[in-house]
Amino acid sequence: MELYIDTANIEDIREIAHWGILSGATTNPTLLSRESGDYDQIICEICDLVGGPVSAEVMSDDAEGMVEEAKRLVGLHENVVIKVPMLPEGLRAARELSKLEIKTNVTLVFSANQALLAARAGATYVSPFVGRLDDIGHDSNAVLTEIVEVFSVNEFSTKVIAASIRNPMHVTQAALLGCDIATIPPAIFRSMVKHPLTDKGIASFKKDWEDAQSRA
Ligand code: E4P
Repeated sequence: MELYIDTANIEDIREIAHWGILSGATTNPTLLSRESGDYDQIICEICDLVGGPVSAEVMSDDAEGMVEEAKRLVGLHENVVIKVPMLPEGLRAARELSKLEIKTNVTLVFSANQALLAARAGATYVSPFVGRLDDIGHDSNAVLTEIVEVFSVNEFSTKVIAASIRNPMHVTQAALLGCDIATIPPAIFRSMVKHPLTDKGIASFKKDWEDAQSRA
């Protein structure tokens, strides 16, 4: 499973990209609204930092407007992927953009049927939101399982991005269930890398080594 970072914060992306484990990034209007500066420039900088697909969302209500926005956004950088909402107009836009060979990420997906529609529209990626499903008491694992199975049985090439990740277990579950990608907030990456036994082990290895050096 590939790992994307889910933020528009350049400092966080720089830090985690430095680990050498990122394959891409996802943004959304809320994440961008938390940053100051020119949004186009931020998207370009993220593209350069991650060196892989970066989702940028369109805001128009109709497919024609979405396609126009998409054409402008893909002109910013070759890594830009167009996020379209899971709506009839978003599906129309995804179909049109696929004809233009522009990559799309159908976002705000909460069911296997929505994912099926997105795949039939020619989406490159679909983003089921696991955290928001769990928030309302639904079983996000069941939804991910169904989407992965539907895509496998039907031989769709659309990739599944587990999104709205709220804790490290969501990442483990997405990997176990066969998602292609998980898009993960910076704080969750920092939790994933830590384990108290790792810290304890490093401290005792260091101490034993230094004791041996002082005896030599
Ligand atoms: C990613 O593509 C989504 O925009 C993001 O994961 C949403 O996460 P949230 O539910 O925490 O806002």
